[in-house]
Amino acid sequence: MKTRIIGTGSCLPANVVTNDDLSKIMDTSDEWISSRTGIRERHLAKEETTASMSVEAAKRAMENAGVTAEEIDLIILGTVSADYVTPSCACEVQAAIGAKNAVAFDINAACSGFMFALHIANAYIQSGIYRTALIIGAETLSKIMDWNDRSTCVLFGDGAGAAVVRADENTGFLAFDLGSDGSRGMVLAGLNRTNNNPLVETSKELQYVHMDGQEVYKFAVTAVPASLHKVLEDAGISAEEIDYFALHQANIRIIQSVAKRLKVSEDKFPISLDHCGNISAASVPILLDEMNKNGLLKPGMKIALSGFGGGLTWASAVVEW
Ligand code: COA
Repeated sequence: MKTRIIGTGSCLPANVVTNDDLSKIMDTSDEWISSRTGIRERHLAKEETTASMSVEAAKRAMENAGVTAEEIDLIILGTVSADYVTPSCACEVQAAIGAKNAVAFDINAACSGFMFALHIANAYIQSGIYRTALIIGAETLSKIMDWNDRSTCVLFGDGAGAAVVRADENTGFLAFDLGSDGSRGMVLAGLNRTNNNPLVETSKELQYVHMDGQEVYKFAVTAVPASLHKVLEDAGISAEEIDYFALHQANIRIIQSVAKRLKVSEDKFPISLDHCGNISAASVPILLDEMNKNGLLKPGMKIALSGFGGGLTWASAVVEW
């Protein structure tokens, strides 16, 4: 039994913030940001929450899949910026869409969150425990950024992406590769809630996201090609046979470097970071939904997916559409 993606959806906040807008509130420029990252604008939430964007993305994915809320057995939501510690964002989505038969929970694997969630759903579906799952990646990163750290805050955005997956006898995911390296976790760290225990003195250090950009860059350009090579080998497919590589949208230079290392044309790497920035767990499903809406995805195509980031974590997969 395979796990097939049968529908996608996404939701971005209404408020668009360009690099020029940022240059009015901090010492930066469109030239610096776009030349180093490829990012030109991002959506930053004002009214929207992680849950409200997740609900919208989920409804659109369900509509695209032709699946009702009652048919969903499982909701897994990857996020580092849920609205509450409890209830989970997945439970908020369950309530809002009326998926009363579903088991719902969040996972934290940062920018790999959607891919880790897909892999969990794949394991449940292959074992026959569940048949239909809603997988969501959603973030309101703007609320956990350090807006005094121009080297990091300009890179990120807010949004949500979702996919409905279902057991299928013929087609679907062909291979997964996941990894974690907690020993290097502090190169991309964020403590978004300080200790409220009156007996403990807490430091405000690391309260918001802090990143060693160069270390993260070095990690990404080695871990991602290695993971993609592994997953291609396991699927028995060469890089040339892949129609599209849907990568986590962190930085255009990382994507160009991966394309070069895999000896594949950059044309096979669709981009959403130019108008979205890096939306952590939401990046891959938003990109997938844009590809789907733009008619890029045809039955039988082979798509490679890869997420990477905080943890450190990475996850790749090959799927037959
Ligand atoms: N605007 C203008 N100048 C900035 C700036 C900004 N937003 N942010 C940093 N700078 C300055 C720095 O202060 C530094 O100035 P100095 O040389 O006078 O000290 C200079 O630009 C270079 O900074 P540096 O950090 O060396 O830049 P870089 O070439 O390494 O690029 C990143 C920085 C963040 C773009 C790059 O390291 C990167 O893309 N890393 C990967 C990050 C990532 O994708 N993380 C998420 C993975 S999930």
